[in-house]
Amino acid sequence: MFERLLWLAVFVVTVTVSLRCWRRWHRRSYWYVVGYPITAFTVRATWRKVALGCGLTKKRQRFWFTTVPGLVSSTGTVQVKRKFQRVTVDTKPWMGLPLPTRHGWRVTIRTLEGQIPAGYSTAAERLAHSWGVHAVRVSSPRPGRVVLSVTIHDPLVRVDDLPPSPGLLKVTVGRLETGHPWVIDFRTVPHWLNAGATQSGKSNLANALIVGLAPQPVALVGFDLKGGVEFTPYGPRLSALATTRAECSALLDDLVELMTTRMEVCRETGARNIWQLDDHERPVPIVVLVDELAELYLMADKSEKDEIAHASTALLRVAQLGRAFGIYLFCCGQRIGSDLGPGVTALRAQCSGRICHRVNDPETATMTLGDLDPAALVSARAIPSETPGVAIVASQDGQWYRARSFYVSENTAEHAAHSYAHLTPAWADVMVFRAGDTVPDLHAA
Ligand SMILES: Nc1ncnc2c1ncn2[C@@H]1O[C@H](COP(=O)(O)OP(=O)(O)OP(=O)(O)O)[C@@H](O)[C@H]1O
Ligand SMILES: [Mg+2]
Repeated sequence: MFERLLWLAVFVVTVTVSLRCWRRWHRRSYWYVVGYPITAFTVRATWRKVALGCGLTKKRQRFWFTTVPGLVSSTGTVQVKRKFQRVTVDTKPWMGLPLPTRHGWRVTIRTLEGQIPAGYSTAAERLAHSWGVHAVRVSSPRPGRVVLSVTIHDPLVRVDDLPPSPGLLKVTVGRLETGHPWVIDFRTVPHWLNAGATQSGKSNLANALIVGLAPQPVALVGFDLKGGVEFTPYGPRLSALATTRAECSALLDDLVELMTTRMEVCRETGARNIWQLDDHERPVPIVVLVDELAELYLMADKSEKDEIAHASTALLRVAQLGRAFGIYLFCCGQRIGSDLGPGVTALRAQCSGRICHRVNDPETATMTLGDLDPAALVSARAIPSETPGVAIVASQDGQWYRARSFYVSENTAEHAAHSYAHLTPAWADVMVFRAGDTVPDLHAA
């Protein structure tokens, strides 16, 4: 008997240790093979209680067998009778089979009458606590259905290394909370606003873009209103760099002139944008990186008013018309608010890509993310300072995501800038382009 117990104990210990090792060394396969089936069963089995606790049930009248006290027999015991009668019951919403995802699971719910997805969004935090998970996100693929996407642990605590770029003007800059790559694709979303408090990871994201774009046949232009301290080391891969407001004004004038030239070329050849031109005619796309945008608009005294107005108008024109002519903006700043003037409000309206890093005040989150789902604003304000690089990302699909950029040190970005310095088109070459001019053979790179 003792020997059997000993063997049983050895068996239990071996299995437990093996499972723990498996979970530690290959969490993903452990999740699919062991964790997910147990979770799916538990979630289904406890759904009535969870839905009731989170206020997602509805009261309905049903015929039900109930036990009611009947006659008292001669011995004094009460006879309990089963009776079929109409009673009020709590009905839970229908739940499909939870499907495993890389960081948790996803389940479809059929809403009960009178329920809307916003009701589930309100209950999301309660659901997360009931299931003991990091977060529950709610989406609605079609009327009457909501999909709950559950993440068990915060996948953004640690993100891996920057992978190679997936295509021209596309850079995988980080990872979304869903586990999918976070891709900034300038051809789909041409202009971006990147806001956040100091040390929240804005420049790190710009570094990731520089590393991703450096090997591509594109011209990079820097506006570094921090006096050049951020972008000067990347000079070898920048076709132009402006570090003061006067330089910015001059460079913006160049960009507007270039845009006009490209416009003429497109008109002459009957193209609506540079992507409709033949490969050998197409001018090089330009990505404009702006750091500390607010400095461009801040006025110390009245004498600067005209200069600011000039720069602001030129930047706005680039934002309005640049997309068709291959000029894309990526603007970083701590504050991008209307207090900086009407120019910045108009610029903000042109930037459909929005990134909001950790913020100190709710206004900055609202200004950056606009009137997105209030849950996005709450999420932006809840980003802890221990995880720089975590941001709320909103782009044209109307959805918002929590994401974290890959850590890209200044050294890595500087190394990329030096390694691909030979791909840097000279600003003079970029400017002289007209149809019939010799186009620098950047596409072959
Ligand atoms: N994705 C990330 N992963 C890990 N660490 C990061 C990440 N992003 C930024 N950091 C760390 O946070 C620090 C601050 O980042 P960064 O310089 O990008 O902030 P910032 O928002 O540009 O600040 P400032 O407004 O002062 O320029 C970096 O030195 C880096 O160590
Ligand atoms: Mg910075």
